[in-house]
Amino acid sequence: MPKFQSMNTYLRILSHARPFSVFLPQYIMYTILYVLFSLVNFSILIPLLEVLFDQVASEKMSTASTLPEFSISVDYLKDVFYHYFGITIRDFGRRGALQYVCAVIVASVFLANLFRYLSAIVLAKFRIRVVTNLRNSIYQKLNSFHIGYFTEQRKGDIVSRVTTDILEVERSVVSTLKVLFKEPALIIGFFGILFTMSFELTLYTMLLLPVSGGIISYLAKRLKRNATMSQESLGRINAIIDETLTGMRIIKAFTASAFMVDKFEKEVKNYGRQNMSIATKFELAGPISEFLGIFAVAGLLLIGGSMVLDNQSSLSASEFIAFIIIFSQILNPAKAISNAFSNIQRGLASAERVFSVIDTPVAVNETADARTLNEVKEALSLEHVSFGYDKEEVIKDVSFTVAKGKTLALVGPSGGGKSTLADLIPRFYDPTQGSVKIDGIDVREFKLESLRRLMGVVTQESILFNDSVFNNIAFGVPTVSLDKVQEAAMVANAHEFIMALPDGYDTNIGDRGLKLSGGQRQRLSIARAVLKNPPILILDEATSALDSESEHLVQEALTNLMQNRTSIVIAHRLSTIQNADEIVVIQEGQVIEQGTHQQLMETGGVYRKLTQMQSF
Ligand SMILES: Nc1ncnc2c1ncn2[C@@H]1O[C@H](COP(=O)(O)OP(=O)(O)OP(=O)(O)O)[C@@H](O)[C@H]1O
Ligand SMILES: [Mg+2]
Repeated sequence: MPKFQSMNTYLRILSHARPFSVFLPQYIMYTILYVLFSLVNFSILIPLLEVLFDQVASEKMSTASTLPEFSISVDYLKDVFYHYFGITIRDFGRRGALQYVCAVIVASVFLANLFRYLSAIVLAKFRIRVVTNLRNSIYQKLNSFHIGYFTEQRKGDIVSRVTTDILEVERSVVSTLKVLFKEPALIIGFFGILFTMSFELTLYTMLLLPVSGGIISYLAKRLKRNATMSQESLGRINAIIDETLTGMRIIKAFTASAFMVDKFEKEVKNYGRQNMSIATKFELAGPISEFLGIFAVAGLLLIGGSMVLDNQSSLSASEFIAFIIIFSQILNPAKAISNAFSNIQRGLASAERVFSVIDTPVAVNETADARTLNEVKEALSLEHVSFGYDKEEVIKDVSFTVAKGKTLALVGPSGGGKSTLADLIPRFYDPTQGSVKIDGIDVREFKLESLRRLMGVVTQESILFNDSVFNNIAFGVPTVSLDKVQEAAMVANAHEFIMALPDGYDTNIGDRGLKLSGGQRQRLSIARAVLKNPPILILDEATSALDSESEHLVQEALTNLMQNRTSIVIAHRLSTIQNADEIVVIQEGQVIEQGTHQQLMETGGVYRKLTQMQSF
């Protein structure tokens, strides 16, 4: 069974080159022409030797006095050759025939190499199309995963699947395509010639094929397992590098360098071990097939040679020499095939890692008949929503409603589930029970993009990209003027500090915006949401990184922004949400209090306690 699976994987890789009609006919044609012209040289070896050794049978020449009927075959070329060869010997003598043979060799080598080049070019086009499409499909797939996928997978491993695994596929699997068609065609061609020369000797040489084939396929199978482990190890190496670069400050502050170096060295050592194990098998393929090949040649010399010496053979001495020379030509393509066979295993191991990403089902899906959501007419509501990242529920039967244009605040102790609730609204996750509804319709019935287009999200951590200020604010909005971006920045109280940056709006803010202060990053995130101008706003601790004065300013801007917008605001600093139309207190995944600031203060529960603590 694994054999079939490998075959399927291989075919699946190739299927990324669709449409094949562009390449396949061209490639096959060039390859056939290449093989034919390379064979010409060897099929005229006998006449050449015969001319040199003065053994030309004159009757052989005379039978070829008429031009043969056209067909694409070695025989046809040989007959054509004999035809002109006969004429040349008749008209110009042996010396002339020698010149004629040399001219044919040069011409056919030229043509063979021309077609070899052309077929290689077609193959390169094919290869590039395969990996381009493969890269694009895995990247598109990554973009369609729900947020949870990325918390469960190691980032480094994903990166290595998208980069090195695809390179591995390119290097090995696709380059073996050449071998898949050209080398077998060459071998069949050579064997064809050999069979016409001596049936018994050829049969004898073929005895070794199953032996070497068996050894090599055994090695290849072992190799694939190593290759998978090696790529997994590389994924972990990438993960360590990624975490090191991201966490360098903490690594230094906690003097954890030695710990990280040790972790890294261990993994690199493991990687080296896997690769060594691959090498011991991989490097065997060439020597084994060469040894077996030469072993066959020696046997040939022994058997065939004694037949010639005893005059028992149907072969003449020059035919026997030609036989050996032609047979030795099989060794190279045979070696190439066995090399490719080991090579392909590495590609297949990588391809399986790539396809396993592509085949992972998307947990947050839209139904086939999903409809487009254009606006919020009445309300956004959660109805008996429960949710858990794993088995344990972190949200338990939560219900609330935000009427259109109103603001609802979520407050409560850390770890209570506020951010999780906020993630359920744009469907970063889907509830395990209950539903999030817009105007009474489950959000799962809407097209994902139309749903998310209505939402502006400012997350607890500012998420910025290594790009200019302008592009970070205009993120995801295809064409937007500088005026609009500046307007949004002003609302977010960010314009002033942006203008003070070296290149203003064109300043690159560094990896994840690290060239900015925490508060500046947060204001850019807010500006981004402002620019999108969405009917639904979700603000998770949007102003937590600001000093009281900026917070006051930004809060004012946000309050303006929230006017006539359906908003969900999460805040620890309760002073910022006192004006909310409704305050929901979340503790351990449950709603424990609900009402306006006034009502909750009067009830005298958790909310009042928290507020009183903060005002001290
Ligand atoms: N990706 C995740 N995988 C598993 N568990 C998670 C994940 N994210 C959060 N949790 C858990 O879910 C619970 C709720 O977390 P959540 O982030 O929603 O709390 P919060 O109310 O936003 O807290 P804070 O006020 O500190 O931001 C926590 O117990 C947390 O450990
Ligand atoms: Mg949170």
